[in-house]
Amino acid sequence: MKIGIIGSGNIGGNLGKHWAKAGHKVIFSSRHPEELKSLVETAGENAEALSVKDAFEVNADVYLLAVPFKALDNLSENYKGLYANKVIIDATNPYPERDGEIAQEVRDAGYNASEYTAKKFATANTVKAFNTIYADHLRDRAFRKEDKLTIPYAAQNKETKKVVKQLIEDIGFDSLYIGHLSDTKVMDPDEAVYGKSLPKDKLKRLVDEKKSIPNLNLKNHNFAKNEKDYIRIYEEKGYVSSFHLKEGKLLNNKTKIAYSPQDIYIVAENRYEGMSNPSDMSILYVIETNKDEKGTFLMGFGPTADLDTAEFFKNIPEENISDKENIYLKN
Ligand SMILES: NC(=O)c1ccc[n+]([C@@H]2O[C@H](COP(=O)([O-])OP(=O)(O)OC[C@H]3O[C@@H](n4cnc5c(N)ncnc54)[C@H](OP(=O)(O)O)[C@@H]3O)[C@@H](O)[C@H]2O)c1
Repeated sequence: MKIGIIGSGNIGGNLGKHWAKAGHKVIFSSRHPEELKSLVETAGENAEALSVKDAFEVNADVYLLAVPFKALDNLSENYKGLYANKVIIDATNPYPERDGEIAQEVRDAGYNASEYTAKKFATANTVKAFNTIYADHLRDRAFRKEDKLTIPYAAQNKETKKVVKQLIEDIGFDSLYIGHLSDTKVMDPDEAVYGKSLPKDKLKRLVDEKKSIPNLNLKNHNFAKNEKDYIRIYEEKGYVSSFHLKEGKLLNNKTKIAYSPQDIYIVAENRYEGMSNPSDMSILYVIETNKDEKGTFLMGFGPTADLDTAEFFKNIPEENISDKENIYLKN
């Protein structure tokens, strides 16, 4: 594969070296490519160094973003048109002390850092990976035959999921699929898998603990502001129907059409922690039906369980659950 490295520092430099060693063609880039000579020499014959612009122009298959988070806006703007349909691996993290206001905004927002990147690089296929590992572990603990460390990753669709899994495993790490970009909160700074250098089973346990939904409750939830906002955004995109559960079926409140789990397609799913109380959690399901009705369903969970609702959503066949990025990002 041809891989463009955007930001050839701790993360980009080491990943590029590993991929070159694994036989990939690597284009390191910098705003001062002449300073990358020794990196290119160490990486060997599969590597070269170019300016950022030239790296975007060589038509690589994959681009790794390993720059400070605050650089993403300009990069996405300046090279628009050059990364369409490419796989973008986002290894960045928002740190307010380094990246300023934008990092704080993203940390406080009702979406994950990877979703911000995906929105900025909207014509590309964004995956999140390599943002949770310490740079020295990335450098020193690749290419292991046993006791492999695990790199968690998330992807927007099946094709890019395959690509990133391969690129992780090619350099001697195990890979752990976290889900869609909307599931990457666990990978953000200070969250469950951030900075965790672990074998796969242990990392998976951390993710599962975080994902497990203790109780379901439709009655007692306070809707956080951002949930209402998201419902409004989906409404603007035509997802106007609302539903309730009756006798094991999902009923359109207006048309009264009743649906079984296999009649329902989940287009997107967003999880929220309550703003004032994190145990007030909810999932917003964005739904299409086999009768072409489109709408949303907000499922809360907390102390008093609504197990019927949970059961209904659990029974929706896997193939009815979209691999697409949340549609609100596709403006
Ligand atoms: N260090 C870690 O342990 C670690 C672990 C996981 C993820 N991360 C994340 O990965 C990203 C890179 O971290 P790093 O430690 O590799 O940083 P780094 O060593 O400072 O490398 C970043 C590179 O990005 C380039 N750069 C800086 N500002 C830029 C701008 N405004 N526009 C374009 N390029 C710019 C610089 O290259 P030139 O000056 O040569 O252009 C620099 O070499 C960050 O978002 C970080 O949070 C870091």
